[in-house]
Amino acid sequence: MVERIFVTRQLPGSILEKLKEQYEVDIWTHETPPTNADIIKRAKNCSGIITLLSDQIDRPLMEALPELKAIAQYAVGYDNIDIAAATERGILVTNTPGVLTETTADLAWALIMATARRISEADKYVKSGKWQVAWGPEMLLGVDVFGATLGIIGMGRIGYAVAQRSVGFNMRILYYSRTETESTRAAEETLQAQRVTLKELLGEADIVSLHVPLSSETRGMISKKEIAIMKRGSIIVNTSRGPIVDEAALYAAVKSGHLRAVGLDVFHDEPTPITNPLLQLDTVVSLPHIGSASIATRTKMAEMCVDNIAQALSGHIPKNIINRDASSNTS
Ligand code: NAP
Ligand code: GLV
Ligand code: GLV
Repeated sequence: MVERIFVTRQLPGSILEKLKEQYEVDIWTHETPPTNADIIKRAKNCSGIITLLSDQIDRPLMEALPELKAIAQYAVGYDNIDIAAATERGILVTNTPGVLTETTADLAWALIMATARRISEADKYVKSGKWQVAWGPEMLLGVDVFGATLGIIGMGRIGYAVAQRSVGFNMRILYYSRTETESTRAAEETLQAQRVTLKELLGEADIVSLHVPLSSETRGMISKKEIAIMKRGSIIVNTSRGPIVDEAALYAAVKSGHLRAVGLDVFHDEPTPITNPLLQLDTVVSLPHIGSASIATRTKMAEMCVDNIAQALSGHIPKNIINRDASSNTS
């Protein structure tokens, strides 16, 4: 019998066509995402699903899909999936690490430049007809990125790639991470990055960039207390996950001028409602979670998901397995 795979959204490129040569593939083609009830209905009898970070892959959903053997997440972050529940049920879960690192680091830098040099404000200024004087000595003054101190929270793949880009900007790099890894060693040896405590990082950095995954430990990691430690006039850029930062505390700090500017690619709720007070502030640069959104990267992510799911369904341990332990629970 041909195994069935449900894909929760159309993916870029033509790789899903290739998947159809081997499996019966059902794709959710609507622009709005499927609800969990939709997923349960469409993925009945499926042995694999390809999921997005906006899908809530929880225990009840897995219980309703008894044939499920593999979940291939189309993202590196997988905080939307109950990994413990998947492992118990012998469901292999994979993600797409590495392939999106440079693209996401580029976007973090776009936010660093946009916040420090007021790019969104300046664009609006021109397009709204406010540009009436040719050149003003005090028009839209920002701060220098060159020579500033960059604080990286989470020196993993993306954190390292962001730090690497700072070399041309002659920056001092401070970082905070839990353990010593290949990335932290490379950051110290090749970029002269300095490991510090979170408190030291917050107190010294001009620009703080977040690159930790969302977990019970990192949820709310940057709240009122942490922001208060930051220097007046400093900047936060978040391309990790919204709930890592307390949005109310962020709003208060930008509003009062304690933070000069904030760059957000991620929000507590996505899509963030237009009523989110942060969106009323000119010095908040807001993006709709487009960190990995280049044509090449999104295409490669799709290829990776397809490889992962095909490996899992053919009885192999996929290259990008998250829960290796699940393989001992497979029936
Ligand atoms: P990664 O290589 O696993 O890096 C994460 C780093 O965070 C690791 O160095 C990890 O090191 C550190 N970390 C984890 N928990 C921590 C804690 N409690 N305190 C301090 N450090 C901690 O992951 P990545 O590929 O760089 O991706 C990072 C995250 O970026 C993803 O999880 C995802 O949420 C987000 N992301 C967003 C976009 C976007 O579109 N905006 C795109 C891609 C990724 P230790 O565990 O050793 O501490
Ligand atoms: C995107 O946010 C990802 O985790 O890949
Ligand atoms: C600005 O355009 C300058 O020439 O200084």
